[in-house]
Amino acid sequence: MCGIVGYIGKRDAAPLLLEGLQRLEYRGYDSAGVAISGKSGGLKTVKAKGRVRDLDSRLPKRFAGTTGIAHTRWATHGAPNDVNAHPHLDADGQVAVVHNGIIDNASEVRAKLEADGVEFASETDSEVLAHLIGRSQADKLEEKVRDALRHIEGTYGIAVLHAAFPDRIVVARNGSPVVLGIGEKEMFVASDVAALVSHTRQVVTLGDGEMATIKADDYRTYTTREGSRTAASPETVEVEAASYDMGAHDTYMHKEISEQADAVDRVLRGRIDDRFSTVHLGGLNLDPREARKIRQVKILGCGTSYHAGQIGAGLIEELARIPADSEPASEFRYRNPVVDPDTLYIAVSQSGETYDVLAAVQELKRKGARVLGVVNVVGSAIARETDGGVYVHAGPEVCVVSTKCFTNTVVAFALLALHLGRIRDLSVADGKRIIAGLRKLPEQITEILAREDEIAKLAQQYTDARSMLFIGRVRGYPVAREASLKLKEVSYIHAEAYPASELKHGPLALIEPAMPTVAIVPDDDLLEKNRAALEEIKARSGRILAVAHQEQEKADHTIVVPKNEDELDPILMGIPLQLLAYHTALALGRDIDKPRNLAKSVTVE
Ligand code: G6P
Repeated sequence: MCGIVGYIGKRDAAPLLLEGLQRLEYRGYDSAGVAISGKSGGLKTVKAKGRVRDLDSRLPKRFAGTTGIAHTRWATHGAPNDVNAHPHLDADGQVAVVHNGIIDNASEVRAKLEADGVEFASETDSEVLAHLIGRSQADKLEEKVRDALRHIEGTYGIAVLHAAFPDRIVVARNGSPVVLGIGEKEMFVASDVAALVSHTRQVVTLGDGEMATIKADDYRTYTTREGSRTAASPETVEVEAASYDMGAHDTYMHKEISEQADAVDRVLRGRIDDRFSTVHLGGLNLDPREARKIRQVKILGCGTSYHAGQIGAGLIEELARIPADSEPASEFRYRNPVVDPDTLYIAVSQSGETYDVLAAVQELKRKGARVLGVVNVVGSAIARETDGGVYVHAGPEVCVVSTKCFTNTVVAFALLALHLGRIRDLSVADGKRIIAGLRKLPEQITEILAREDEIAKLAQQYTDARSMLFIGRVRGYPVAREASLKLKEVSYIHAEAYPASELKHGPLALIEPAMPTVAIVPDDDLLEKNRAALEEIKARSGRILAVAHQEQEKADHTIVVPKNEDELDPILMGIPLQLLAYHTALALGRDIDKPRNLAKSVTVE
């Protein structure tokens, strides 16, 4: 949430900063702003409510300067408007700061500064940083920033420009990501490598409590508290710059849905062990003896990752016969959870940054628990904080709503469940059966995606719905939950998911033609039960769209998907409903990649 970028080198900074911001827009799109160290000294700032393109149209023709910082905002404190847009300046206009995170004690600090006569321009928490840095009596910029940060509680990724120190940008990290990009006589800084990879693949990821000074041809990292040097070893980013491009698609969501067969192929690659009918998960750090001692699995995530975790919990129970459940990380961390030594905790996150998940991991670690990560972004905060885990290998996901990463996360859970199962009681025959099912997935996904035109036509019939009900049973219920989240996020049609078994305990009261139902109806041992739910809805004149392995007589429409093993069916059944959400949103003219009020990589509570 919120993206920061910085550039120092020989080239004109503004176009590079804007390009970087565009790459980070998924982190927030309420406003954007840029500050440049002008050639004639002093700082020049331009800010605009709205998107990066609004900022671009506001930039004067001559906005020259080879050092600058920029920001794209997801509003927390203060309305999304020009004034609250970053960068924020100190009273003399000498210091410019961009900030991602939340300053918890901002009102207290602000009150003190105001009592000292400081006038604030914005309502943001971030502005206190600019004033604190501007008022520091220290000589060096680094010291001024460290001085300021001593007064601050909360999370931050910041980049600071100072008119009196035009040769450098100072950055600091605590809880919100900051990466440095090392170029040829130029340096970049950003919240995410997405903003850097078209210029350099050499990056240094700052750790929490770390700062850095970047100059055009040099950088150094040190601790925020003591200022002592830290060892920063650059890493080469493996992701291709092109994988961040939209290619021939009109939206990232469409691109990412379409990439799922390849993505699933990637998460499986090199991991299947036919000899023992199991899988190798290199980074798990869990030896078989420990794995046998696990008495319970608790999965934690937010949003789509939480739903993927629910399917994951089902897979672990079915294949490894370990009691498992999934809970929103945000709820878990605030209920003073009992941390059991024989429970395996698993944190799930696409970005590896989501604050609530990270905070839950830190709380668990503090209490001595073993925590694994199921994470997409390699080297992200959650991947680093956990004891081991499984990378999801979905590739970069840019659209705010998650699609391919959901699918890959569920497949990663299937691998983990198979691995745990084969260490425990899952038979060789069942291991073989699941492996064969996993191998079929990419082809079956391609088969489903080939039906896009049919689903697009169907979507047209649901654009008039004000609300939709999604139902499923056991394996199908988390699929229904994720599909309902997808629809509401991207189309703004209200949607609610319910276990099909609970229909008669309330939701049936809502059924009428204006309230369509999407039903997940797999060909498994609950098929007849699911059919009974369809009967009940039809008897009350409800419209039904079924996702099933065969035509459903009671449904108005059935999207038929290929059958896999019962345990793996949930992986496939959600995919047509991603397309349904996409095409419904498209027909309604929604801003698909950037739904209102949302953002990806939620680094705030
Ligand atoms: C936000 C996004 C969701 C995402 C959730 C968790 O709410 O809008 O699409 O599922 O964060 O993100 P994570 O990166 O932890 O999977």
